[in-house]
This record gives sequence, C-alpha cells and structure tokens, in this order.
Amino acid sequence: MDKKLPIAVFVSGRGTNLQSIIDAINAGKLDAEIKLVVSNRSKAYALKRCEKYGIPYKVIPSKKFSSPQEWGEALIEVVKESGAELIVLAGFMKIVPNNFIEAFENRIINIHPSLLPAFKGLEAQSQAFDYGVKITGCSVHLVIPELDSGPIIAQAAVPVLPNDTAETLAARILEHEHRIYPQVIQWFAENRIKIEGNKLIVLGAKYGTLPFNPQLEKF
Ligand code: GRF
Repeated sequence: MDKKLPIAVFVSGRGTNLQSIIDAINAGKLDAEIKLVVSNRSKAYALKRCEKYGIPYKVIPSKKFSSPQEWGEALIEVVKESGAELIVLAGFMKIVPNNFIEAFENRIINIHPSLLPAFKGLEAQSQAFDYGVKITGCSVHLVIPELDSGPIIAQAAVPVLPNDTAETLAARILEHEHRIYPQVIQWFAENRIKIEGNKLIVLGAKYGTLPFNPQLEKF
C-alpha cells in the first residue's frame, strides 16, 4: 500500500504497545506512520523509545492547564499540526477531555486489558484475577466520553491458568495486546472500519473481528 496512515500515539508509561506498533511498521506489516507521540508525563519510558527511533514527541501534562477543556485544546492543536488521522491511546493514563473526543470523533482508539465491558478502569488484570474469572483478555475500542466504553473493534481471549498470579496473567494478556493493536490500526489504514451505531464492522473480514490467528494468512 502506498499511502501510509498518519497516526498519533498517546502514552504515559513504559510504552510496550508503542513498541509493538513501531515493530509492525518496521516489519512492513503496518501501513502507518507515527507522526507524533504525546505523553502527559516527561519521565515516561516510552519517550526513550521515541528518541531511539527518531519519532517526534511532545510532553503535555494536564496539570499545566487550568481545566480539562484547556488541556484538550492544547492536545487538539498538536494533533492537528501533526496531520495524524488516527489517535492511538497506548497506556495513556489520563481521561481524555471531552472536547478532544468531539474534535476527533470515531478517530480515537484505546486498548484495555480486559474483555470489555467487564473490568473497566484501572488494574483490569488484577480485577479479573481477583474476581476469579476463567477467561479474560484485551479489547480495542473506539473512545467515547464514557470511560472504557465505545464500540469494540477487536478482542483477544486469554485463559486464566491455575498457577497464574495477577502478574503472570497481565504479562500473557500484554502479548495479545501487542498482537491485536497493530492489526486494528492496519484495518484503519485499509479503510475497513465501518461504524453502525454501537456496532463496528470490519469490512471484508473473513472471520468477523477475531484477532489474528497465525494459522490463517489473513482475516
Ligand atoms: C496496557 O496494559 C494497556 O492495555 C493499558 O495500559 C497498559 C500500557 O502498557 N491501557 P504499555 O505502556 O503499552 O507497556
């Protein structure tokens, strides 16, 4: 594909999902270009990854602004400047302001480490582990003002094993996050996402929105 989808990635921490996106682009599996990384924390390790790969980044902490609205305006401005057409929240630990969501309606996606709508909010892996579910996983969804809600684009199911701790479970879920997030961005790059109310359809998908199965070439 000639045209690369311009994206902005929002981070707050270690940035392993950012890394999976960089790796997929470098491997030629993802037709996207990271125009900008935005962090609300100057110490986020994700920014070291930006330096390593020469990716432009900006640190925009919410506490520097007097209201979420003003912070949102600053975010809108840098994203518009960057030319990004899709905003990818990858471990962004702040609630995105409503004016930002309105400005980029249906063009903001998030990854959450549970099978939504179960276990919204912080530490979803521990919530699932403590509840005692036998299957959990991760979800990629469109961002709407309500936290961890919005149409689901893809999910991966991860079994909870008898010897798991919350940490081993979180690590196994993370492997699946790294698999499905680049895949979802590629669907956007291929213009295959169609929104119908709260349901989202991946055009031409052979297997609905099942995440990539290595035994299948394409889905
Ligand atoms: C991931 O578990 C993601 O699902 C959640 O925050 C974590 C970010 O991890 N939203 P990383 O910074 O991408 O390593």
